[in-house]
Amino acid sequence: MGAPAAMNFQTIFFDVLGSTNTEALEQARRGADEGLIIVAREQTAGRGRLGRKWASPRDAGLYFSIVLRPSLEPRFLPLITLAAGVAVHETLTSLGLSPDIKWVNDVLVHGRKISGILAETAETNRGTAVVVGIGINITSENFPEEIAKIATSIEGETGRRVSVEDLAKTLAGNIETYYEILLGAGGPQCVVKEWSCRSTYVSGKHVRVTAGNEMTEGITEGLEPNGALRIRTNDVNALAIIQTGDVQALRDR
Ligand code: BTN
Repeated sequence: MGAPAAMNFQTIFFDVLGSTNTEALEQARRGADEGLIIVAREQTAGRGRLGRKWASPRDAGLYFSIVLRPSLEPRFLPLITLAAGVAVHETLTSLGLSPDIKWVNDVLVHGRKISGILAETAETNRGTAVVVGIGINITSENFPEEIAKIATSIEGETGRRVSVEDLAKTLAGNIETYYEILLGAGGPQCVVKEWSCRSTYVSGKHVRVTAGNEMTEGITEGLEPNGALRIRTNDVNALAIIQTGDVQALRDR
């Protein structure tokens, strides 16, 4: 088998959108090819995981969504988010940062969030499309007050302002690399391995995971083949498999 064909990127830059994910999902439903990238200078209704808002002031971040049409067993679809996390990690590392990934999709620098990933699916005439939406903070200048305490940005960490175009190009190249790894032979295991070596959260971390009304506390113990987080729970010393939720690091007692 030869090398996989290079991904065909087409990037559309918008001035303002509600959400680049909404636009990309719409384009996917209309039949857009894999590799379509939507970027906006500003989002008026940027969204995050679990129904949260993603603050998206003008020119303060990269607001990026890519359409994928993966031929992947459905049980491995969650690994697309992890592959995207690795791509963001690589992109930030190439700018001189030392990021960490908090399960499942928060990219942190010095314990503060610099990037988030929201993958959403659309059923289309051409099969299931996955839209991977990525926000990366470029500057902290216009951070809303409540975010300033818990977030950071490329400029805040390096003193340098990168251009949206350059950042989008580097990120797209890294997404291509890890998406192709995911779709290749042994791809799911490779992505789990690549993700795990970039995350201090993957094992031995005392965490609390909240998912709706459910709360699990314990020590992380690696990932399942589909990217779910294993936690050795404090109370009954059982292994909990976390498919979704919000992870918070706890201080060791
Ligand atoms: C999270 O950490 O909760 C995920 C945040 C994802 C934000 C990005 S910005 C580009 C794309 N468009 C959106 O509305 N959301 C994603």
